[in-house]
Amino acid sequence: MIMEQIQQVMRECGQLMLGADRSHANIETKGTSNNLVTKYDKAVQEILQKKLLEIVPEAHFVGEEETVHDPIATGKAFIVDPIDGTTNFVKDYKSSVISVAMTQDGELELGLVYHPYLDEMFTAQRGKGAFRNGKPIHVSSQPLEAGLTLYGSASYYPELIDDSFRLLRKAFDRSMDIRRSGSAAWDLCCIAAGRAELFFELRLYPWDYAAGALIVREAGGMVTRVEGGDISLSGPCSILAVGSNVDAGFLRE
Ligand code: IPD
Ligand code: CA
Ligand code: CA
Repeated sequence: MIMEQIQQVMRECGQLMLGADRSHANIETKGTSNNLVTKYDKAVQEILQKKLLEIVPEAHFVGEEETVHDPIATGKAFIVDPIDGTTNFVKDYKSSVISVAMTQDGELELGLVYHPYLDEMFTAQRGKGAFRNGKPIHVSSQPLEAGLTLYGSASYYPELIDDSFRLLRKAFDRSMDIRRSGSAAWDLCCIAAGRAELFFELRLYPWDYAAGALIVREAGGMVTRVEGGDISLSGPCSILAVGSNVDAGFLRE
């Protein structure tokens, strides 16, 4: 029931993105000149905050576009990226999603990612599997040699770029090819759906990956930090996601 209600809110936000007048998007930068935010990021987050809290009034709320973030260690919490792939949104590249996760006492409970341009809704509930538009999905069982590597360039962090490209070269040498969608949440859905075998990025925030991580795990895949160890839901970390037949140990060599 909650799942359906959340999906309805996300579809409504998707309509707002599809109908956006991007020539009046009030583009601003945050921190670095390539980290953008538009009035649509803010508007989608406002709708999500209002409507998700109507569905689960006791929940905490963590959204990318606010400065102060609620702690998520106890009770229920939403972790939300209103538009993951803002640069794509600004460029009309049509590869941006809405990402909503809900935690219970710090553990991922629900994950939903909606791609309005493709009308694809990915959903997962802990212990209940992962779905694309209501149909069960599973990660790829192909080895990396017969697979695709997805990566994020950590482009807001100049200090990570050399390492990112070094790892990318290693993964490129072991895969059929590489892809860069510009949305980490979407990359995770592509791993979950078996469309690619490996995804990594050296620094992301929980709103980028919380929902996608649960979707990958419920689809039978593995999500850890690139350096190994469990991911954080309370602060940034690196992310590695793989299908069921990929040993990503080479990234740590
Ligand atoms: C970004 C996207 C991108 C990733 C960046 C993220 P944003 O999120 O997920 O793919 O490479 O690291 O910050 O800024 O578009 O919400
Ligand atoms: Ca993001
Ligand atoms: Ca965002």
